[in-house]
Amino acid sequence: MTVHFIGAGPGAADLLTLRGRDLIATSPVCLYAGSLVPEGVLAHCPPGCRIVNTAPLSLDQIVDEIAAAHARGQDVARLHSGDLSIWSAMGEQLRRLRALGIPYDVTPGVPSFAAAAAALGAELTLPGVAQSLVLTRTSGRASAMPEGENLAAFAATGATLAIHLSVHVLAQVVAELRPHYGDDCPVAVVWRASWPDQRIVRATLATLDAAVGAEMERTALILVGRTLGTEDFDESRLYAVDYDRRYRPTGASPRFPETR
Ligand SMILES: C[S@@+](CC[C@H](N)C(=O)[O-])C[C@H]1O[C@@H](n2cnc3c(N)ncnc32)[C@H](O)[C@@H]1O
Repeated sequence: MTVHFIGAGPGAADLLTLRGRDLIATSPVCLYAGSLVPEGVLAHCPPGCRIVNTAPLSLDQIVDEIAAAHARGQDVARLHSGDLSIWSAMGEQLRRLRALGIPYDVTPGVPSFAAAAAALGAELTLPGVAQSLVLTRTSGRASAMPEGENLAAFAATGATLAIHLSVHVLAQVVAELRPHYGDDCPVAVVWRASWPDQRIVRATLATLDAAVGAEMERTALILVGRTLGTEDFDESRLYAVDYDRRYRPTGASPRFPETR
């Protein structure tokens, strides 16, 4: 018996890995994290599967469900939105399972920042503009931000920011970022990336507030940085004609002659 933690992706039912789909299809129990896991993903559950929405459950109740499946010798598909490595509450479940000696494995999923970037048709790391992406959030009721992890500190690097769980405090986010990125810095808000009702607002830090208006539904990502919407960036050296590399040796004495 194994508990399969599976990243269920950002919303679209077909943004699920084949491995995740197959594990769901062979697990007689499926626990899924409420509103963000789409019905289409649950359609992969086998007939007769015990399907439980864990949104109204406490951690103890979730672990009880898993322990009961363990006692029956039944595999569990445990679904969380996006990828499990960020804001999934997987860590605390794994700790409980380790203490109980219940086996588990983890299958990654498509994170919402990647789905939002795809919706924008944007590369978030452009040569000469930004080479780092910060996945962050603002303080919430359930989780305070550790000291030092604040927007101003991240903004000081000039990296592209993907700000989660924060659209309800959009004005505050913009106010904190404007002094660092400048009023003309591009910003995009993507609601429900990859869902049929996906919405996108592109603006600058100065115009975002007016552009967004009253649309403050919670499942949205705020992307900020000069990589959004600029044509003014360097081409990657990787594909330059004169760039000597392992898979395309160039020049009189290539660095990797053995691959010739
Ligand atoms: C609890 S976190 C889960 C993050 C998830 N584990 C991931 O990999 O993206 C929920 C937040 O992720 C973002 N999010 C999740 N799905 C999204 C989507 N389809 N479109 C835009 N933002 C999304 C929102 O900022 C939302 O408040």
